[in-house]
Amino acid sequence: MTIRVAIIGCGSIAAHRHAPEYANNPHVTIAAYYDRNRERAETLALRYGGKVVDDYREIMEDETIDAISDCSSNETHHVISTTALRHGKHVLCEKPLAVTCEQAAEIIRASKESGKILMVGHNQRLTAAHQKAREILASGELGSVLSYKTNFGHKGPEYWSATKGKATWFFDKQRSVLGVAGDLGIHKVDLMRYLLQDEFAEVTAVEGVLDKTDEQGQPIPVCDNMLCLFKMRSGILGTAAFSWTWYGEEDNSTILYCERGELRIYPDPAYQLEVVKGNRERIRYQLEAIQTNDNQTNSGVIDAFVDSILHGKEPPVSGEDGMIALQVVLAALESARTGAKVTIPAIVW
Ligand SMILES: NC(=O)c1ccc[n+]([C@@H]2O[C@H](COP(=O)([O-])OP(=O)(O)OC[C@H]3O[C@@H](n4cnc5c(N)ncnc54)[C@H](O)[C@@H]3O)[C@@H](O)[C@H]2O)c1
Repeated sequence: MTIRVAIIGCGSIAAHRHAPEYANNPHVTIAAYYDRNRERAETLALRYGGKVVDDYREIMEDETIDAISDCSSNETHHVISTTALRHGKHVLCEKPLAVTCEQAAEIIRASKESGKILMVGHNQRLTAAHQKAREILASGELGSVLSYKTNFGHKGPEYWSATKGKATWFFDKQRSVLGVAGDLGIHKVDLMRYLLQDEFAEVTAVEGVLDKTDEQGQPIPVCDNMLCLFKMRSGILGTAAFSWTWYGEEDNSTILYCERGELRIYPDPAYQLEVVKGNRERIRYQLEAIQTNDNQTNSGVIDAFVDSILHGKEPPVSGEDGMIALQVVLAALESARTGAKVTIPAIVW
């Protein structure tokens, strides 16, 4: 069986991840591309085959297209993904699933009502290092996790986005909405839920615009840095730093402090995982090169989405996962705005 997919939004994540990973999957044909900037769609079509359309509704109404990747900017995910699901397409939506929980709930509802798969592009839980970390934690050899520290930062999306420089939509309040919290923070929220198999209960956060400026030289209207203190439902405590102003090396590291030692993820470019036992014994794992903006290895996201469609399986990152991660990020932004600790209620599905 061949799955015919369309890519909507043909910028950096489509070019680095979705298009090449679909092209490498033997069960997929890329049938169509749409981008408001037609040239970007044409570049992908030239390289990977498939047609370019001038209106995304052409893709929706094409009954030969089974699935779409929604790689548009944050503010349009709920429109494109909901419409696609309602037209009977499976949807792989990039993170953040949406910019409000109401929008996220609408996308999930469309998936439930159409019976079509909705997966969210939280790729962190699929990397070899994070999968191995989960395996080590589940084995119990380090005992329970007591606390953690997680970081995600790089020099900023203006170096990554298809529109380079200060004009990037990542710096636009109406389009990015969540700033670095929705760009990098949301990845780590999803990752910690996966690693700890636990939910976020409370957050206290601060955020700021420390360095990024818009085309007029004014501070951007969304945060470029955020620091969070988290309490999980189980009582585990954690800290997190998210930044678009780490101008040296990208940092995507996490340390889990456990009853009988530590688990260090991405501690060093030479190895991806290190277990440090209570007796100082160190075990290092070389699993894969770390995925950075400059080094995109196969994310596994696209193959997992295709596998879910082929076998009618639950995807490894569901719409509900996407909505919970968004809820935590919105709670962190609320805490930063009000200066108060914010309690995160369980969502009733
Ligand atoms: N999973 C990850 O690691 C990861 C990494 C980067 C970006 N993303 C997410 O992917 C999405 C796209 O980010 P990007 O880095 O590719 O941005 P980008 O600026 O490089 O590309 C976005 C593209 O979408 C197009 N676009 C936007 N809205 C559109 C619409 N309504 N219809 C048609 N085309 C539209 C733009 O013209 C642009 O070409 C964002 O939601 C972002 O958060 C995820």
